[in-house]
Amino acid sequence: MDLKEQIILKRLPNHVAIIMDGNGRWAKQKGLVRVMGHESGTKSVRQVVEASAELGIKHLTLYAFSTENWKRPKIEVQTLMKLLVKSLKKEIKTLQDNNIKLSAIGCLNDLPKKAREELSEVIEKTKDNSHMTLTLALSYGSREELINTIKNIATNVKNNIISVESIDESIINKHLYTQNLPDVDLLIRTSGEQRISNFLLWQIAYAELYFTDILWPDFTKEDLYEALINYQNRERRFGKTSEQLS
Ligand code: IPE
Ligand code: IPE
Ligand code: MG
Repeated sequence: MDLKEQIILKRLPNHVAIIMDGNGRWAKQKGLVRVMGHESGTKSVRQVVEASAELGIKHLTLYAFSTENWKRPKIEVQTLMKLLVKSLKKEIKTLQDNNIKLSAIGCLNDLPKKAREELSEVIEKTKDNSHMTLTLALSYGSREELINTIKNIATNVKNNIISVESIDESIINKHLYTQNLPDVDLLIRTSGEQRISNFLLWQIAYAELYFTDILWPDFTKEDLYEALINYQNRERRFGKTSEQLS
């Protein structure tokens, strides 16, 4: 039986997040420059976006650029930003054809003007699409997001809009960049690294973690299916006992 048929569609994770890692190593293995790995990685992005939409996953969030990635060589950062603009221009059709709404989280003001404009345009054009939400984490860092959240909540308290006593999980959720997204159910990281690298720390509290050695440019639809099957074979207990669940 092929992998896709083994997926139980009724039990798909509602929100899948992916740390797309290993572009540089993929290129190095092939004797290419790092940016060729990023270029090739965009093909994997298309594969997982299409596969997720085909299956009926409602929310897909991709870690494309972290707040820490600004520390990389200038030429690599510039190429990544150019690639973002190019991909947005190229993939708008894929998004429209598949009824996908684009969204972005992160310190978006830090992006170059061209990237911000292109991003806003695609977000605006796809805002009424309803089959799936694709969220790009760009200049995203979870700690930066939490600092921003705390500042906004503190300001609201100072201005008597909310009381200290009323602060709970739902208020915090409403102030995060991910305010329109549910918690992450499945977090995938490619390239063999087993770390979170400042991604969605609050939102992955009860996510299932899936690590694979595959480098991002080699990641295909089949690899996503494998991750989903693995996820579906786990028991999510949320603190309860196994007996309580059945
Ligand atoms: C992930 O691949 C892409 C970004 C972080 C932008 P890397 O560029 O981190 O690839 P490796 O980890 O060096 O192989
Ligand atoms: C995490 O990958 C960020 C993205 C995939 C965008 P990194 O390659 O930047 O993470 P570290 O530095 O290995 O932890
Ligand atoms: Mg990396």
